[in-house]
Amino acid sequence: MTMELRERRIGIEALAVQLPRSYLDLGVLARANGTDPAKYYFGLGGRRMAIPSADEDSVVLAVRAAGVLLADRAADVSSIGMVLVGTESGVDAAKPIASYVHRMAGLPSDCRVLDVQHACYGGTGALRLAAAWVLGGARPGRKALVIATDVARYDVGSPGEPTQGAAAVAMLVGEEPRVLELLPYPEAVHAAEVMDFWRPTYRSTALADGHYSMQCYLDALESCWRRFAGATGLGAGAFDYLLYHTPFPKMALKAHRRLCELSPDGPPAGGADADWERRVLPTLWANMEVGNAYSASLFVSLAGLLEHSEIDAAGARLGLFSYGSGSCAEFLAGRVGPDASAWRNRTGLRDALAGRRELTYEAYLRSRRSYEEQGRDGSFRAAAGGAGPAFCGTWNHQRIYRDAAWRSGTGWTSGEERTAEEASPFRAGHASRGAQAGS
Ligand code: COA
Repeated sequence: MTMELRERRIGIEALAVQLPRSYLDLGVLARANGTDPAKYYFGLGGRRMAIPSADEDSVVLAVRAAGVLLADRAADVSSIGMVLVGTESGVDAAKPIASYVHRMAGLPSDCRVLDVQHACYGGTGALRLAAAWVLGGARPGRKALVIATDVARYDVGSPGEPTQGAAAVAMLVGEEPRVLELLPYPEAVHAAEVMDFWRPTYRSTALADGHYSMQCYLDALESCWRRFAGATGLGAGAFDYLLYHTPFPKMALKAHRRLCELSPDGPPAGGADADWERRVLPTLWANMEVGNAYSASLFVSLAGLLEHSEIDAAGARLGLFSYGSGSCAEFLAGRVGPDASAWRNRTGLRDALAGRRELTYEAYLRSRRSYEEQGRDGSFRAAAGGAGPAFCGTWNHQRIYRDAAWRSGTGWTSGEERTAEEASPFRAGHASRGAQAGS
């Protein structure tokens, strides 16, 4: 990075979080699985996990998060020149989620739109690429919209099941980083091809070699941290808070123990576990409610810190570790903006949590089944009730979404139930544009 770039500030100007409308308590899941609830609550460290309904997918969560961000007037939509979506929950092997966001958020056509995929690292990768694009100056004055959106689904009854979750975090990236300034230290990244976690394109649920994935995560942390500490001369003591990618909260404790072991400034006063309670736990309360949100997890922690009821994080120096299975990882440093308290009750996180409803175990199983059914061609059915974006099913091999533009275009209003044939957008005008193999 040149001196000129170092003198310019870059980072997150505004941030918005969206969650599914429902959650499952881990105690309910444990009892259904014949497991001691203490394993999930204390062994893994979770409390609840966000469970998307059949009409909520990674697109819907992303569009909603973008909507909250833009409704807050954080940015004039015409100032956005790039949309990057970090995700491993793509709904199509070719078409990016960013395209849906671009249309439904009403963004300008002179905009670059694409998804960035590398398991849970995708959101951080997108943030870094967006920051470099803004600093590169190809589109002076333009900002980037970065959204990390994911739905973590494992097979029912598998070891990964208690580590599911979902969230989308939308971030505006520009040169007035009121939320988080990315500090211009040398990059500390690590890549190694490993088979610790993956999701074949023919599956809707992920596969994991769980214990191996924890080892890969810690190896990547060690590599990134050695690079960061070696290049900067900083130890763990340089940070007010440390945020770790959190597939389940206990993982952040394991990560912090490893970081403290390796820190050039020696173990923290009182030991790593006591230090974890001071400098890591305050960033985890939202992750304990949401579960694993893959690429969005690290940013759920950031939102949790900003929304912490007893902490004013203004000016706090943060160390952030991002890990994506497969694998790619990065340790980066940031500084919270001076008006951090302005984000309290403003990121959408607390509203989303307060508006959730609890699922029974049977309702959880039903919602999983209906999501699978809605992915099948011909499943389209107009969304009943509610407002805002919704996934309505698949028709003619195309995923159909309810959004404001479509509603006004057809005179259709939410709350109406119609058959697929009556409500299909392909009935009038669209039919001739039906899918053709190979097109
Ligand atoms: N009370 C309290 N704690 C208990 C317990 C009980 N009754 N029973 C088990 N535990 C503890 C274990 O001691 C262990 O803690 P430790 O790691 O500190 O020793 C923890 O609960 C998990 O138990 P474990 O037997 O290791 O769980 P598991 O084999 O069922 O699977 C994962 C755990 C994380 C491997 C599994 O959830 C998974 O595959 N997740 C998806 C992949 C993932 O998240 N990877 C992380 C890196 S990206």
